[in-house]
Amino acid sequence: MSAVQTYPTAGDGGVGVRCEELVHIYRTGDLDVVAVRGVDLVVGPGERVALLGPSGSGKSTLLAMLGGLIPPSAGRVWVGDEEIGGLNERALLRLRSQRVGLVLQGAARNLLQYATPVDNVRFAHRSLPRSRRNELMRPLELLEALGLGDVADSPVPQLSGGEQQRVALAVAVANGPGLLLADEPTSQLDHEGRDSVLDLLDVVNERFGTTVVIVTHDPEVGARLGRTVTMRYGRVGQEAHRGESFAVVGKDGGVHLPDELVVEWPPGTQVVVERDGEDLRIRRRPR
Ligand SMILES: Nc1ncnc2c1ncn2[C@@H]1O[C@H](COP(=O)(O)OP(=O)(O)OP(=O)(O)O)[C@@H](O)[C@H]1O
Ligand SMILES: [Mg+2]
Repeated sequence: MSAVQTYPTAGDGGVGVRCEELVHIYRTGDLDVVAVRGVDLVVGPGERVALLGPSGSGKSTLLAMLGGLIPPSAGRVWVGDEEIGGLNERALLRLRSQRVGLVLQGAARNLLQYATPVDNVRFAHRSLPRSRRNELMRPLELLEALGLGDVADSPVPQLSGGEQQRVALAVAVANGPGLLLADEPTSQLDHEGRDSVLDLLDVVNERFGTTVVIVTHDPEVGARLGRTVTMRYGRVGQEAHRGESFAVVGKDGGVHLPDELVVEWPPGTQVVVERDGEDLRIRRRPR
């Protein structure tokens, strides 16, 4: 893919994201940490997904790989039809600035601290042609939708954590991205703040077809988005669609047990797996 390509943006519909056998190992001195251990995931254009899971289960690492922020140790990622492993740093930057909205974990990391919220949002528009900007929500309109009208011109460091978090989201959706990847964008918000974020995501999804992948600890966010993907120990263990939960069979044939059983049946427990017509039965080896 040419490094000078200009990606379509606002109004061109959602951009799906998918990955195959994705692995990430952090190499820290004498210790390797396997943060993501073989994730296969398909998120279709315009789909909305919440990524759940306990702390340390690999959610942020997975999201960062989907956005091309960290390279996988193994496996492949496609954003739309493009395999991003084949892109150089410049092409990745262009992809992120024009097609993908990103919110990193920790609001302050996403913002220019010396600029006001309204200038932060304007800055996000810099890579777009003027004609495109006219299709987008105006910066102030966007901030008002998130209840930030009163602080639109205040210095960012004077804003609370929750306000900064909402500004970061405004910046990420400013270009009407085809794909929004947001890491815990509502963790510091009360119910009202959270709902304003979710309402804005509905608008963005409807207007631009934006595909939304959000890391969250909040089951309410999962319920609003409709599909949840739950990670445990670097793998996708469970998916839920409109409240109905399914365990996900891994490449190695493994299936995650429900949480309460993991406590009763610690790793290494031997079980008998029996086929019963269409169903499987699993029981502990008799002692
Ligand atoms: N930069 C790093 N260097 C070394 N290990 C890391 C690094 N970042 C994350 N890890 C480790 O990788 C694993 C997955 O981390 P990750 O941040 O992806 O989890 P998470 O699900 O986002 O957790 P949280 O809910 O706390 O944000 C953890 O064991 C974590 O300690
Ligand atoms: Mg995280």
